[in-house]
Amino acid sequence: MKEKLESIRKEFEERLAGISEQSKLEELKVAYLGKRGEITSILKGMGQLSPEERPAVGQLVNKLRSAIETGLEEKTQQIKDAALKIKLSKEAVDVTMPGKTVTTGSLHPINQISDEMKDLFIGMGYEIADGPEVEFDYYNFEALNIPDGHPARDTQDTFYITDKMLLRTQTSSVQIRVMENKKPPIKIICPGKVYRADNVDATHSPIFHQIEGLVVDKGVTMGDLKGTLEIYAKHMFGPDTKIRLRPHHFPFTEPSAEVDVSCWTCGGKGCRMCKGEGWIEVLGCGMVHPDVLRRCGIDPEVYSGFAFGIGVERTAMARFGVKDMRQFFEGDVRFLSQF
Ligand code: DAH
Repeated sequence: MKEKLESIRKEFEERLAGISEQSKLEELKVAYLGKRGEITSILKGMGQLSPEERPAVGQLVNKLRSAIETGLEEKTQQIKDAALKIKLSKEAVDVTMPGKTVTTGSLHPINQISDEMKDLFIGMGYEIADGPEVEFDYYNFEALNIPDGHPARDTQDTFYITDKMLLRTQTSSVQIRVMENKKPPIKIICPGKVYRADNVDATHSPIFHQIEGLVVDKGVTMGDLKGTLEIYAKHMFGPDTKIRLRPHHFPFTEPSAEVDVSCWTCGGKGCRMCKGEGWIEVLGCGMVHPDVLRRCGIDPEVYSGFAFGIGVERTAMARFGVKDMRQFFEGDVRFLSQF
């Protein structure tokens, strides 16, 4: 019996020495200490021994069992230590390696210009209004004195969702929505996207941005409009900028004007930037048409108002000297990182 136990111990030690994985260790444990393991079966066979032999053999078996248990425990610890060592060496930081640079993006030039204009008008007491990009024909055209068949619709062809619903062609639609919901005094701007069925070229895009302005109150005059636009022009294009109102026609304003600013590159003498004109067109404006006010439940005998619509892309192109509008929409980082 003694020899048998001795050979079990030897065999166990040999097998233990060859193990380096926890799962193999579990298998070994089962093979010796499990229900059908070597030690267990010896203990079960103890009954066949004579009563004299039993205590001595029992002692030897117990000793062997505790030796096996200790061996297994030590091995478990070794395996754990080795795994930790590998983990730590893998996670070691080489402090001599160059660091990873975090590249931060920047605001898109269209957003920069838009934010700048918003800040300016908020500073003058304007509130920001919002309206849907998918708009009813009524708000985009009808209520702005552009009924079905009106020639102004030709220049603002758009994408129709139904006969009566379309992608808005101008933020002027928000004027109507605001006036329907709020009584004067009204002083709002509405920045947003607009859509037109235009072919893409250097100065056209089927989607672009506008900022609409609307002021309605008692006694609002064209002088107020002009003063406001002067502040706008000086803020956006420099303190020496002059403005020029050219008579124009918009169905929803009367009188209407297009506004040019003196060229900030040549100061009005004429250069490549202004195509030799000395002036650059930046927006449309006018006094809100009495019919538009009336349609929104505002009495034009009591109230008057002015409105303007600024093209954001056009302003950004002018400010940054960008020649091709498409660059704003292509998302090329080499272009965008310049702003
Ligand atoms: N909505 C016009 C356009 O897209 C621009 C415009 C002109 C807006 C005159 C106005 C305005 O508010 O009074 O061409």
